[in-house]
Amino acid sequence: MRVRSLAVTASVASGVIVTAMFVQSLSSSSAQNTPRYLPEYTASGDLILPKNFHEWVYVGSPLTPNALNGGKAGFPEFHNVYIEPGSYEIYKKTNEFPEGTIFFKELQLTLPAQNADGSRTEPSGRGYFPGRWNGADVTVKDTKRYADTDGWGYYNFNHHEPKAPTAKLRPLEECAFCHIASAKKDDVWTQFYPLLDTGPPPPQSPRPDKMPDID
Ligand code: HEC
Repeated sequence: MRVRSLAVTASVASGVIVTAMFVQSLSSSSAQNTPRYLPEYTASGDLILPKNFHEWVYVGSPLTPNALNGGKAGFPEFHNVYIEPGSYEIYKKTNEFPEGTIFFKELQLTLPAQNADGSRTEPSGRGYFPGRWNGADVTVKDTKRYADTDGWGYYNFNHHEPKAPTAKLRPLEECAFCHIASAKKDDVWTQFYPLLDTGPPPPQSPRPDKMPDID
């Protein structure tokens, strides 16, 4: 008798577990599966270097080598761009970058040149090959905190290694103006990131009053 009642208890308990798993699988289509890493700030409001960005979703690597820019490219490196994975999961569903989205653009030098155009020859062919990391730029979406720069905060964590542990907010005329003027979607250069270049662009938000003149 005692054995039997134990068996009944066990089967009721496992029924509860099965039900719980079923509910979870039903709701998983709308639930957030990827944990989000949200921006972290120091007490004085500087942005802390985002953690684990090398494990984020990689979206592209524009490259502007010195040799193609009169020897003086502003950024002669690969610009490896990553989006925080929890934000990407939301973007895939809504086609909008959610509040707290972080983009991490890590600069990566090309390996030393063997040819006048800055290129070198490797077993795969002649071209530009990634070498040392060289600092990072970061953007964070927060439409209230960064209302003056069209809803995104712009930070530089050095243009060399090691990356700075924290960074100060950059003004409109240093970074945001260029993104506002020419980036395809919500001040992000989705035209260079096929993974993100999806769906119709959202209506343009009103531009900040203080936009500097640019041609
Ligand atoms: C003159 C134009 C211009 C200025 C100024 C500029 N950017 Fe960008 N930024 C770009 C372009 C173009 C891209 C995409 C392609 C690339 O990296 O070359 C980009 C991409 C980025 C990305 C990757 C995510 C995205 O929006 O596509 C980050 C992060 C970023 N910039 C941060 C900054 C920060 C921080 C500053 C200021 C310190 C800055 N940018 C100033 C033109 C600019």
